[in-house]
Amino acid sequence: MSELAKIELDGKVYEFPVVVGTENEKAIDISKLRDTTGYITLDTGYKNTGATKSSITFLDGEEGILHYRGYSIEELAEKATFLEVAYLLLNGELPTQSELDSFGSSIKKHTLVHEDMKRFFEAYPAKAHPMGVLSSMICSLSTFYPESLDPHRSKEMKELTMHRLLAKMPTLAAWAYKNSIRHPFMYPNNDYDYCSNFLHMMYAMPTEEYKVDPVVAAALNKLLILHADHEQNCSTSTVRIVGSSQANLYATISAGISALWGPLHGGANQEVIEMLEQIHNDGGDVDKWVAKAKDKEDPFRLMGFGHRVYKNFDPRAKIIKKACDDVLEKMGINDPMLAIAKRLEQVALEDEYFKARNLYPNVDFYSGIIYKAIGIPTEMFTVMFAIGRLPGWISQWKEMTENKEPIGRPRQIYTGYTSRSFVEITKR
Ligand code: CMC
Repeated sequence: MSELAKIELDGKVYEFPVVVGTENEKAIDISKLRDTTGYITLDTGYKNTGATKSSITFLDGEEGILHYRGYSIEELAEKATFLEVAYLLLNGELPTQSELDSFGSSIKKHTLVHEDMKRFFEAYPAKAHPMGVLSSMICSLSTFYPESLDPHRSKEMKELTMHRLLAKMPTLAAWAYKNSIRHPFMYPNNDYDYCSNFLHMMYAMPTEEYKVDPVVAAALNKLLILHADHEQNCSTSTVRIVGSSQANLYATISAGISALWGPLHGGANQEVIEMLEQIHNDGGDVDKWVAKAKDKEDPFRLMGFGHRVYKNFDPRAKIIKKACDDVLEKMGINDPMLAIAKRLEQVALEDEYFKARNLYPNVDFYSGIIYKAIGIPTEMFTVMFAIGRLPGWISQWKEMTENKEPIGRPRQIYTGYTSRSFVEITKR
């Protein structure tokens, strides 16, 4: 017989099933709690709440483990291509060569965006943050494909929308950048692989030949894989919640992009590099900034430090730190920000404040240094995260719809006024 959890309320004992995952994670299934007891659970920030059962990503924050569909992030980052990982996340298995070929050619078929969309870009100011542009453009795709408005219209339509998104996201992202520097847009070149094509659209110019540097393409491939999914984080939960209302997939992903933008989530990668530059320009006194981060009166936090689930180390940070050394060495770059980052990490890791709170560098701590080395402008860092996270968002949405999950609708404990009478304006 499976384990039961007992809860005693108002002198009565209630039993609830215990759910155990394949990696032995345990949960108390309280889905009948309110119906049977009249109580709800209260868990702001969902720190203890399992919102779904999922077979996509497993992570163990204490042990620093991250798996996509059972494969370790270390192995995938070393051996796979981003499209292979996207296929794996979406379909549950690594593709055979012919499956990958047909997936890849379907993506290539959809890399262009409707010419009318180019006109939208003209209306944005040059200073527009590319995350705002990307989120709007992705939502705007829904207006060009009205047949996608019902996300459950058919299996084929669902797949087409997923492929369109994967194909057009790099194009729209690169155009957001080109627009910000008022350079002409470069059309996708389908002779390239996914990462090289993005680099081509970012850096090629109609006036001169551009050759993709394989070191840069390989670094990008690795970074995108590391970001591809991370189970029920803020933006993914947003995607699941928005998607649960049966909003179309473009609108749903656009909401995920907006959630990712925040500095406590994907926006941290831009904040990290800005913080390192600030420390550098301020003379590089790392101790001073660590002290600021510890000071409760000071709002400053060490960006790129700490994580909601990793309490030992973030396995992605470990891979990125090594990749950072490799990429900078291969490219012959000596970035003083890397030296500051390493000193900061060392000082923080030895400090009682950070040790007591299990605060370690997260995925964003070193990623910005690589992005900077490969020529990605700072404001585009979070856009890069979004390109990487896209297959994860789509896979989580797909899983949710296949499992026919109900609309997401948390409850609350009301703490406002109890019922009172309206007071005329003259008597207030
Ligand atoms: N610098 C200084 N103190 C910190 C930091 C930090 N970066 N992060 C957490 N703390 C302290 C915090 O003040 C609190 O201290 P106390 O217990 O004395 O009040 C304690 O550590 C716990 O912090 P929390 O904010 O309650 O923890 P959380 O799990 O709610 O937040 C976090 C996790 C990632 C939002 C937070 O660590 C943070 O703000 N980090 C900086 C932003 C960042 O790097 N975000 C990227 C996350 S990884 C990319 C992604 O997947 O989104």
